[in-house]
Amino acid sequence: MLQVQKLSKRFRGPQGREVLSGLDLDLAAGEYVAIMGVSGSGKSTLLNVLGGLLRPDAGSVCLEGVELTELDDASLTRLRRRRIGFVFQAFHLLPHLSAAQNIALPLQLDGVPRRQALARAAALLEGVALAERADALPGELSGGELQRVAVARALAHEPALVLADEPTGNLDHGVGLRVLALLREQLGRTGGSGLLVTHSLEAARSADRILVLEQGRLHAWRGETG
Ligand SMILES: Nc1ncnc2c1ncn2[C@@H]1O[C@H](COP(=O)(O)OP(=O)(O)OP(=O)(O)O)[C@@H](O)[C@H]1O
Ligand SMILES: [Mg+2]
Repeated sequence: MLQVQKLSKRFRGPQGREVLSGLDLDLAAGEYVAIMGVSGSGKSTLLNVLGGLLRPDAGSVCLEGVELTELDDASLTRLRRRRIGFVFQAFHLLPHLSAAQNIALPLQLDGVPRRQALARAAALLEGVALAERADALPGELSGGELQRVAVARALAHEPALVLADEPTGNLDHGVGLRVLALLREQLGRTGGSGLLVTHSLEAARSADRILVLEQGRLHAWRGETG
């Protein structure tokens, strides 16, 4: 469902360097893959490119037969809203909307009636153990709570592709496992594919396979010592 070929991305500026250099990735429909790699190795950059938020310098990103690098910004935004669920490392919640409204908004933007969108938000908040904070504003939520709202928002429209950037980084062990279970359960039920970026080997092990981003490319994980 996702084919990435020879992807390259360089950041300009004094310390500009090539973060992704000729990266390949093939993600099958329904497949759930974890990506590990040291801080600064380019994991967020990769997800941003795959989610159409950042333009690569070279290479091809083909999602469900659509070449993302050929789309204009408006088409990319539409495709992202319909087919991709993005859990940002920095959450990006809208500060003036409640937790439930943040989750419901993308659905409403895509034509789902308000009442139905809020019902879906309520169910997802329940799923991430946050039902009682539905009406709180982001400024009133803890880091881990914000993270769970961000996960719920990414899953709300049952996207074909979930891109999750360290979605359990701020969570305690138990809640982290619950969030990963929710993600896995939904991917299994909807046939969606997922890319999970994580620093936690335990979280990575919840995926079908583990890749490591190193020197601009993805390699199969070679075990604890690899
Ligand atoms: N907009 C930017 N301009 C210049 N350099 C950038 C920019 N964004 C990221 N970088 C650099 O690119 C490299 C990769 O960053 P990226 O955020 O993809 O790493 P990461 O693997 O997600 O790290 P972490 O595990 O800390 O989240 C880093 O060295 C970072 O400083
Ligand atoms: Mg990152």
